[in-house]
Amino acid sequence: MHEQAVSTKRPITPALVGFLRGRFRLRWRGIHGAGHWVRVRANGLRLAPMTNANTTVVELFAVLHDLCREDDGFDLEHGARAADLVHEVCDELLGIGREQAELLAFACRHHTHGGIDADVTVQTCWDADRLDLGRVGIRPDPRLLCTAAARRSDVIDWAYGRGLRSR
Ligand SMILES: [Fe+2]
Repeated sequence: MHEQAVSTKRPITPALVGFLRGRFRLRWRGIHGAGHWVRVRANGLRLAPMTNANTTVVELFAVLHDLCREDDGFDLEHGARAADLVHEVCDELLGIGREQAELLAFACRHHTHGGIDADVTVQTCWDADRLDLGRVGIRPDPRLLCTAAARRSDVIDWAYGRGLRSR
């Protein structure tokens, strides 16, 4: 069993935001930029009470999973780069322990591979990302979502609408 699902500590600190701004190579307002991260975070935090995911991991995944992209296309290695980064900065910058770092790194490394089976926190991270396809005009397909919470039509409608309005 991993750390308690609900943390009182806010994982996205001003220091982390400064780091994100310095590290991100693409357009801040692009399809993989800050607006996407904000919606992935909101999606994840909506799912977490239903899935019992670790919210610290979910929030950190939102801002880190696309951080190391070098383009807005396939860039198949960006998840692996994000996972390596998690291990580099987990202690000092992210303030998380080994167990959370492992979950976060796994979620980042494999988020582009279309997987469905994983720890429920990882599944919640992947669903939070996939629920934001409205930003590129795609309605999330429930068959490609991992959790029953994300497959709910009210959740898909809500997330899809937020993504669509961001265009
Ligand atoms: Fe993403």
